[in-house]
Amino acid sequence: MIRLKQLSMHYTLGGSRIDILREVDVDIAAGERVAIAGPSGTGKTSLLLLLAGLERPASGSVVFDGRPLEALDRDQLADLRRDHMGIIFQSFHLVPSLTALDNAALPLEIAGRRDARERARALLDKVGLGARLDHYPGQLSGGEQQRVAIARALVHEPKLVLADEPTGNLDDRTGAAIGELLLHLNAESSTTLVLVTHDMAFARRCDRVLQLTGGRLTDMNPAREPAHAQPA
Ligand SMILES: Nc1ncnc2c1ncn2[C@@H]1O[C@H](COP(=O)(O)OP(=O)(O)OP(=O)(O)O)[C@@H](O)[C@H]1O
Ligand SMILES: [Mg+2]
Repeated sequence: MIRLKQLSMHYTLGGSRIDILREVDVDIAAGERVAIAGPSGTGKTSLLLLLAGLERPASGSVVFDGRPLEALDRDQLADLRRDHMGIIFQSFHLVPSLTALDNAALPLEIAGRRDARERARALLDKVGLGARLDHYPGQLSGGEQQRVAIARALVHEPKLVLADEPTGNLDDRTGAAIGELLLHLNAESSTTLVLVTHDMAFARRCDRVLQLTGGRLTDMNPAREPAHAQPA
């Protein structure tokens, strides 16, 4: 599903260079749930941006479903994200001028699907927001906003869901509930999930935990077979 081949990336700022990834090789199978852990500032968000084709590597390749992302131009990458990826950011990234329903329907609206609002409503029901459809993001709690963001990320049934600390901005109890919800919805649809989290208890609920430190991704439980993996 996803293959990272000799992937290297760095930022250069004011003459100094920050290495994010050094020749990383990783395979993620379809349906697998992978947690990326690691200290602050090691490059976990940057790695998700590479997977989404929102950043370009210095060298190496991100292969998504057999397609090397570096061979695609901006428009092709945007199409790929629209059709096959759902992205959940730590800070929700909802459109403030749209209601919960319209936010959740957005990926399908953009794709021109007539059933956009109907499907968004069904998904918002599933995440427990059936009574908040007409609320704007500013009228929702943090946990509610994140549930709208999850609904929006899943509404078009993407092949890949990328989540950057989806529980990071929430209190412990709400965070745990949102984490459970995400894993539950993911198991239901057997979508590939790559999530970044500081929370090791949450990370261990995934099939595999990869630790990012010093530009390397280390498998923290290499012996375990992924529970949801299907042949790629
Ligand atoms: N656009 C950029 N230009 C230059 N340096 C950057 C840029 N974006 C991130 N960095 C630097 O790259 C490093 C990795 O950033 P990144 O956001 O990927 O870390 P992270 O592991 O997600 O951290 P956190 O756990 O705090 O979210 C940081 O040191 C950051 O300052
Ligand atoms: Mg980050």
